[in-house]
Amino acid sequence: MKLERGIGMFDYSQKVMEHFANPRNVGEIKNPDGVGTVGNPVCGDVMSFYIKVDNGRLSDVKFKTFGCGAAIAVSSIVSEMAKGKTLQEAMTITNKMVAAELGGLPPNKLHCSNLGADALHKAIEDYQQKSAECHCPYCDGRISDEAPFCQACGKDLVDRGS
Ligand code: FES
Repeated sequence: MKLERGIGMFDYSQKVMEHFANPRNVGEIKNPDGVGTVGNPVCGDVMSFYIKVDNGRLSDVKFKTFGCGAAIAVSSIVSEMAKGKTLQEAMTITNKMVAAELGGLPPNKLHCSNLGADALHKAIEDYQQKSAECHCPYCDGRISDEAPFCQACGKDLVDRGS
């Protein structure tokens, strides 16, 4: 595999360089179904993933990364790997798979690939947690399990059996 002297003093694969120079799916999703943010306390880099879910599939995946070039390439490739996958399939993406998909990373940059799958999985878990919550049948506002009425629209939620 051809390595290039790339960002700073590290040797990166052409794929890393390409995704760093032209990252895919950068940005935020308005009203995302799930958000996951992870950070590395040592280097201070932070990665956030935003997802949209349709029929159990990731219909859109975007990211915002404050970090090194490798972290940006990792975010970009993870967004491509995850888009269109079912939630179960996306949960099987590992950090090792991410590094392999990029054609490898220098050993001291492997920690950057750890953020990618972790942030994606966190966004999926956030979605799963939200969809497990109760919603008002009238306005779809979030309600607590025991609420006698919806706090958003005020409708009575108690079944009086009539
Ligand atoms: S140096 Fe921290 S994520 Fe790359």
